[in-house]
Amino acid sequence: MTVRVPAKVNVQLAVGAARPDGFHDLANVFLAVGLYDEVTATAADELHITCEGPDADQVPLDHTNLAARAAQKLAARHGLAPDVHLHITKDIPVAGGMAGGSADAAGALLACDALWGTNTPRAELLDICAELGSDVPFSLVGGAALGTGRGERLRPLEVGGTFHWVFAVADGGLSTPAVYAEFDRLTEGVEVPEPLASKPLLDALAKGDPTALAATLSNDLQPAALSLRPSLADTLAAGTAAGALAALVSGSGPTNAFLTRDAPSATKVAEALLASGTCRTARLAPSPAPGATVL
Ligand code: C5P
Repeated sequence: MTVRVPAKVNVQLAVGAARPDGFHDLANVFLAVGLYDEVTATAADELHITCEGPDADQVPLDHTNLAARAAQKLAARHGLAPDVHLHITKDIPVAGGMAGGSADAAGALLACDALWGTNTPRAELLDICAELGSDVPFSLVGGAALGTGRGERLRPLEVGGTFHWVFAVADGGLSTPAVYAEFDRLTEGVEVPEPLASKPLLDALAKGDPTALAATLSNDLQPAALSLRPSLADTLAAGTAAGALAALVSGSGPTNAFLTRDAPSATKVAEALLASGTCRTARLAPSPAPGATVL
């Protein structure tokens, strides 16, 4: 059983103050983009993971991998042994702020559910996703959604057209907890407002209007990501100089996202980013993209 799962970009990431449990309340507008990992589940004697792709060496193959934990949780719910081989074909940047690990967890869950014939109701799958991580439910549903709570409570959003993105992939990842910790440090002593979704941003998404969306993109984690990785500012500037409508750090970074007018403009921005030498690679991706899908 093979499942294809998209990456995401956060077109709005409003972050509240740290909660007593250490997480942050969010207004998190997720948009699934057309960069995909594939997870294949095959019956095996014991749970094990393999991974292929340009950055496969950075993916943990032990049971700390979120895909392994997804298989274990689903098996436990149905009283089964999690004896499965999960093979991940990795195309989403690793530790890049594009929910690659979450995608693999959602993919593993759906692939195991199909392989084992457990027919888990969608609401239960979403509960397991939320236990696995804040971004995992969105990887399952795809499209566009507003995530509240720590990002796991989803409301689907309308998208009125195709948005064309370029993603500049940096060398090395950034740890999400480290970026949130830096956010806490930078906002120490400051009154952090309650995170609220931006109405103009939701309207721009619904209209499919890239210029209006570009004017409303925001990421409260961007100052923290830039503080930990100042060189990201050079990449953002290179994409903007090349004609991107807007540039922002994707989630907790270090991938940078560039919204462009159309597909030809996206190709031009990607070429300029590569020529600038400020990123490792530049990837084109349209949005929205469908959620986890059994192939
Ligand atoms: O939920 P997930 O495991 O993806 O979160 C990874 C880390 O990111 C958490 O341990 C926490 O440090 C931080 N985080 C947060 N607030 C959120 C989501 C994640 O502080 N809403």
